[in-house]
This record gives sequence, C-alpha cells and structure tokens, in this order.
Amino acid sequence: MRKPIIAGNWKMNKLAAEGARFLMDIREKVPEEGRVETVVCAPFIHLPFLSEAARDFPVSIGAQNMHHEESGAFTGEVSPAMLSDLLISHVIIGHSERRQYFNETDETVNQKTHAAFEHGITPIVCVGESLEQRENNETMDFVESQVVKGLEGLSEEQVKDVVLAYEPIWAIGTGKTASSEQANEVCTHIRKVIEKTFSKEAAEAVRIQYGGSVKPETIEELLSMSDIDGALVGGASLKEESFLKLVEAGA
Ligand code: G3H
Repeated sequence: MRKPIIAGNWKMNKLAAEGARFLMDIREKVPEEGRVETVVCAPFIHLPFLSEAARDFPVSIGAQNMHHEESGAFTGEVSPAMLSDLLISHVIIGHSERRQYFNETDETVNQKTHAAFEHGITPIVCVGESLEQRENNETMDFVESQVVKGLEGLSEEQVKDVVLAYEPIWAIGTGKTASSEQANEVCTHIRKVIEKTFSKEAAEAVRIQYGGSVKPETIEELLSMSDIDGALVGGASLKEESFLKLVEAGA
C-alpha cells in the first residue's frame, strides 16, 4: 500500500510572519502521520523557522529547489547540505517553472536528484508536458523521457523512495485541471516506465502525485484513481482551510 502524499508548494508567496502563522494554525488539525504524509514546500527564508516549529507535529518541511553541489562559489544558491542541516526532508526538483524560467534541464534534475539522496532528502521530481505537446500527441513520449533522464543512475531502492509529480504545464495555475482519467493515464504510463527501466517492485512502490489546479473539490476523485498517490498543490495550498481539506482527503 502506498501512503498518500499531499504537498503544498507555496512558490514565491508569504512573508516570514505569514508562513509562521500558517504553520501554527494547522498544527493541531493535521491528521496523524500514519495515514497521509503532509509536506509544506516553502521559500528558503521560511525553512529554519518552519523546520524547527514542525518538529513536534506531523508536517514535513520541504524546499522548492536546491543546487546539486555541496558548497562553493555559486552565488545565490542553496546546497543540499544546508537543507539537511536544517532537517529539511523533501525538495521539489525540476518544477516546470524552474525548467521554464531558470534553465533547469533533465541533466540538472538528475544531478539534483542524486544529490538529494546523498543528503537523505526525498526528491519530488516534477515532469509534465506543454499544451502544444499534448495537442501533438507527444505527452507519453515526452514524460517518459523526462522520467528516464531525471532518474538515470539511481538504484532500485532509491527509486522506491522517489516521489514523482506529474504536472501538465497547461493545468498549472490556470484553473484547468486535467480530468482524473487524463491524469491517471499519464501516471499509469509513468509507473510502466519505472517498471521497464528499474523493476516491478520499484514501480509498485514509487509514489506519483498529480499537480495542476488541484482544489478541495477535485482532490477526492483524483486520489481515487489507480495510479495517483497524492497531489502537489500550488494555489490551494496557500490558505490554511483549503490545505487542510486537501490533506484530510488524503487521510
Ligand atoms: O507545484 C504546484 C503546481 O505547479 C500546481 O500549482 O495548484 O497553483 O495549479 P497550482
């Protein structure tokens, strides 16, 4: 049985006090860890406080990106060692906004995914096609290539611990959710790719989230699909009430 994982991605939102208030507001209300994994992926400036504050309740704190090197002359970057030092447990890698605006490639995604494992951080590796690719029937091939290249060189055991997030770019922040069937079709394909590339056991264990305009009204149906094990949520993760509804749906 794969445990559902609901992750909020705040993107570039919330001042420090707002982030702190959010965590304090949800602390008594999040379901216990056994039923659902709850993750809040916040901008770097929030991480020291959130990580400390979340220690005594079942919310994991994640980053939205990191560099793959341990340390060095990379002005403006944050290393995996810095994240693990703060006990950050998850990191989003290769979000489409980073691929689009910050030149992330499958190669950098792969480097970062390896680096995350070297530091005991769970990578949430994002893949997904553009509208043009969907309309040209390129979705399956494109997503397959992102998965294969992004996870290249990982061991079977590592792949079991990866979280993949299928996020069709055309559904992100647009209010246009992929239908549950559309989302599941791609997630099923991703699982087959993992089986082909790694093993049946890895394919059965790996968790695949859907992301793209997920809302409390749509989460239950998405989670009822055979190959969707959770959600990576932007907009609807910013308000305490809707985030809690999403997490409760996963529990
Ligand atoms: O990481 C989250 C995704 O980009 C989805 O964002 O829920 O605002 O569409 P959204």
